[in-house]
Amino acid sequence: MKISKRAKRHPRVIGTLPALRRAIANFRRRGRTIALVPTMGALHEGHFSLVRRAQSRADCVVVSIFVNPTQFAPHEDLTTYPRTLAADVAALAERQVALIWAPSVRTMYPDGFATRVVPEGPARAGLEDASRPHFFAGVATVVAKLLIQCEPDIALFGEKDYQQLKVVTQLGRDLGLKSRIVGAPIVRERDGLALSSRNRYLTPAERQAAPMLYRALKDAAAKIGAGAPIAEALKQAREAISRAGLQLDYFEARNADTLEPLKHSVGEPIRLLAAVWIGTTRLIDNIAV
Ligand code: PAJ
Repeated sequence: MKISKRAKRHPRVIGTLPALRRAIANFRRRGRTIALVPTMGALHEGHFSLVRRAQSRADCVVVSIFVNPTQFAPHEDLTTYPRTLAADVAALAERQVALIWAPSVRTMYPDGFATRVVPEGPARAGLEDASRPHFFAGVATVVAKLLIQCEPDIALFGEKDYQQLKVVTQLGRDLGLKSRIVGAPIVRERDGLALSSRNRYLTPAERQAAPMLYRALKDAAAKIGAGAPIAEALKQAREAISRAGLQLDYFEARNADTLEPLKHSVGEPIRLLAAVWIGTTRLIDNIAV
């Protein structure tokens, strides 16, 4: 029998708070540092890049898998959101993840649950929040809970959801949580499309059109970086997106730190952020200038 060198140690999948607390206390007793990677499952290379980064920065990595109902509006895709727990656990086993926190909705939101974290500042930038007004209160509430439950030294979030990263960073600061929030770069397909659990909703024709979002971001960033007027670069990008048959939600240039509209001061860091609909699928992406 061949024994693989990278023997799979099956991660512990924990679903109750007392078991999670025992496992975390156990890590701590042994002097281990902890990194948390919060996810909604349907894991892909974007998630795995966060896991790798977490492993390089802490002794133990906890991946949470929880499709958080409070960040979906009633008309959104909560019921159809891909749930692939067995495959996710197997993929994390290959990557030597120690612990998976996979609570039920009941465990996260027990009967009578009545506390919400309602973020402001970057959560009111007029980007994702304009189309999804419920979204960041749901994200902030669940992320605050996850950080309190797991007490990690660091928690990793992808720049793919750039506004979310800013909201969570602000939340950590405002609530005085001990966990450091760490951002990680966007992982893309070869044709530029940012990896997303929602990409699997795309039909083959939609999948072919989808990289246009990144192309438009890249073109606009290059033009602005070369000194073109920002308004003109944004206008051309919006037109290119519409011409490609994608339905534009927003395509904006913002201060990369605050997400506020640009003050056009010298050296101001700029981030372009966009959301489009392709058929019934909504995709978001962003890029630094
Ligand atoms: P989910 O969409 O599963 O994403 C989990 C984490 O993976 C987020 O930090 C997201 O930014 C990151 N991620 C997704 N696609 C990525 C890509 N292509 N490259 C790099 N990172 C990527 O975001 C959520 O879940 C939820 O809102 C959550 C924070 C878990 C709260 O419910």
